[in-house]
Amino acid sequence: MIEAWSNDATREESISEDTRTDWIDMDAFPNLIAAAGSPAVSRRAFLKFCALTASLLALPSGSAALMAAALSRSQRLPVVWLSFQECTGCTESLTRSTAPSIERLLFELISLDYHHTLQAAAGTAAEQAREKVLKEHAGKLLLVVDGSVPTALGGACSTIAGEDNLSLLKRCLQAAEAVLAVGTCAAFGGLPAAAPNPTGAMGVGELMQRGWVPRRPLANLPGCPPIPEVMSAVLAHRVAFGRFPELDAQGRPLAFYGETVHDRCSRRGHYEAGRFAKTFDDAGARAGWCLLELGCKGPATRNACSTVRWNGVSNPVESGHPCLGCSEPGFWDQGSFYKPAKAPAPTLGAQDRSAPRGAALYQEQCARCHGSAPGKLKTLPDEMPALLRSGTVRAHRFDLKDADMQALLDYLKTSGK
Ligand code: SF4
Ligand code: SF4
Ligand code: F3S
Repeated sequence: MIEAWSNDATREESISEDTRTDWIDMDAFPNLIAAAGSPAVSRRAFLKFCALTASLLALPSGSAALMAAALSRSQRLPVVWLSFQECTGCTESLTRSTAPSIERLLFELISLDYHHTLQAAAGTAAEQAREKVLKEHAGKLLLVVDGSVPTALGGACSTIAGEDNLSLLKRCLQAAEAVLAVGTCAAFGGLPAAAPNPTGAMGVGELMQRGWVPRRPLANLPGCPPIPEVMSAVLAHRVAFGRFPELDAQGRPLAFYGETVHDRCSRRGHYEAGRFAKTFDDAGARAGWCLLELGCKGPATRNACSTVRWNGVSNPVESGHPCLGCSEPGFWDQGSFYKPAKAPAPTLGAQDRSAPRGAALYQEQCARCHGSAPGKLKTLPDEMPALLRSGTVRAHRFDLKDADMQALLDYLKTSGK
């Protein structure tokens, strides 16, 4: 659907397959972490960041070292961040992230030359700074956009220094090597594009498809707002390898949007067992049952909330609120937030549902690490009790009464394991 959004030139292949870390010359960080007078980020924090980022992006083993080495050799990437019809939530999400302070690390990797909210300069000086970057780094800068672009009423709904958003986006894209659309507003129009959409709000991709702005490699990071680690990981990948990670047909990185919120939801066991909260304060809700009948859109929403979590702690569904589908195209107009969603076909077959206790136990205790279908478990069911009770694997240290253990084994056997 979006050929122009596919990944662009790659430098990744040229990087050695060597996965040792001792060849990374951490003292030779001329441009990044060890830049003179910039002790903001320790080596340890930097390496931790690379390890976390490589793992979030599901890069192959050894990639953390490759990323650290690539980042250590990279120039700081010039970035112009444009904010159009938005609420500042996307920037807030990035800057309010917790330790290690993601935005501090990021700002060592990029040269954020223009950002309404974060820059010190104001007025004419700010606009002059942006124009200087567009000129000096033409063809090399990364454009980041949050907010949607109004196209109605001659663009009068939102202007910056007297220039309408569409015109500014067009000019900046001409100088950009690639563009990152951060948040659902920039990716798909989002809240400002809700019917009747009086401003004619559109996302960057639609404008490209209509030919109203120049086409550039585009990655969409929808979410209202997006998860900070998703933004930082994609930016770090761009700096390290000169391209975006693998994208889906909607231009979203597969590593973060390849699965639905439902796929790895912590309430999934209750869904499989048919236990649904009926109101927000009933016994089921208090017991953590599935929120499908309260309008949860998790089954149709691609985002990493169930695995990456917000601030590494929780997500809307775990906190007791249905997923609203904030990262999907049409978010807001699809509405019906608290109306029961149509249940997807159960992943598990009828015979599995005949052993609901075992299915629920599997989803509660095992699915987070082993996936929602148990077929990939390496251990045979008969060997499972010994493994689970050996205490050798920390994630296996949960207590199962004999009856529950049997229910789990029965379930694994009937599910073809
Ligand atoms: Fe605000 Fe959401 Fe739009 Fe980001 S995507 S600017 S958080 S409304
Ligand atoms: Fe979780 Fe919602 Fe799926 Fe229920 S419907 S398992 S609450 S994502
Ligand atoms: Fe959005 Fe749903 Fe995650 S509402 S924040 S995609 S749980």
